[in-house]
Amino acid sequence: MTAAFVAGATGFTGKAVVAELRQRGIQTVAHVRPDSRELSRWQEHFGGLAVEVDTTPWQADALADTLQRRGVTLVFCCIGTTRTRMKAQGQAQNSYEAVDYALPKLLAEASATAGCVTRFVYLSSLGAGPRAQGAYLQWRWKAEEAVRASGVPFTIARPSIITGQRDEARPSEAFAGKAADGFLSLLGAFGATTLRDRYRSTTDTRLANALVRLALDPVQAGQTVLSEHLQ
Ligand SMILES: NC(=O)c1ccc[n+]([C@@H]2O[C@H](COP(=O)([O-])OP(=O)(O)OC[C@H]3O[C@@H](n4cnc5c(N)ncnc54)[C@H](OP(=O)(O)O)[C@@H]3O)[C@@H](O)[C@H]2O)c1
Repeated sequence: MTAAFVAGATGFTGKAVVAELRQRGIQTVAHVRPDSRELSRWQEHFGGLAVEVDTTPWQADALADTLQRRGVTLVFCCIGTTRTRMKAQGQAQNSYEAVDYALPKLLAEASATAGCVTRFVYLSSLGAGPRAQGAYLQWRWKAEEAVRASGVPFTIARPSIITGQRDEARPSEAFAGKAADGFLSLLGAFGATTLRDRYRSTTDTRLANALVRLALDPVQAGQTVLSEHLQ
């Protein structure tokens, strides 16, 4: 039986992944961080989708045990922070290391230990790479490498900008998405379709559909999938 575990289930993409899994009738567990201030809101939200909320602490043994006990076969890791969030939550500037790198690494290793996980889908970002510019993309690349080294069967997804109706306002992201799409469609009209397809934005729902499709496709094991295939 297929059973899914979504880490970062309270995020923009994570929520859409949970909804997509339920639409396909897949038994799903939404992981909410144990220190969440909005646990009851999330319990209500996910309860409405017949999704159980799990608050296992971010500890390797505890997570491996949870995955094993629940018979989880698919893990989706949609975790990440932003500079704005770091500031708002009074987090240190090294939070990319503590969140974007350390948590996916921990979860991938726990998934390998659990032994029941047939696919670990890691939501990375377009631009991640060994020579990436900037701390965010450098930590994303290190997280990708940790997933690859963990021993769990994985698929890594690198989307471009994710647009749609967020709870939290991110005007610069929405503006960047619109501006880039406008410029890229112009380039596409002049024949630069590869560039257009690589960098144009996607939505939370289109991305969630692609992530679940990749998780269920045996051919995608061990692959790093770029934006144009996540539309
Ligand atoms: N947004 C984009 O345009 C874009 C483009 C390319 C790639 N990506 C990547 O895709 C990922 C998901 O994006 P998104 O827009 O869906 O993100 P999001 O809405 O900001 O969601 C982030 C998730 O990570 C969790 N999280 C953050 N800090 C945490 C911590 N310290 N401990 C435990 N959980 C924590 C959040 O939980 P809480 O709700 O409890 O805070 C939330 O569930 C990001 O990591 C990003 O790097 C995003």
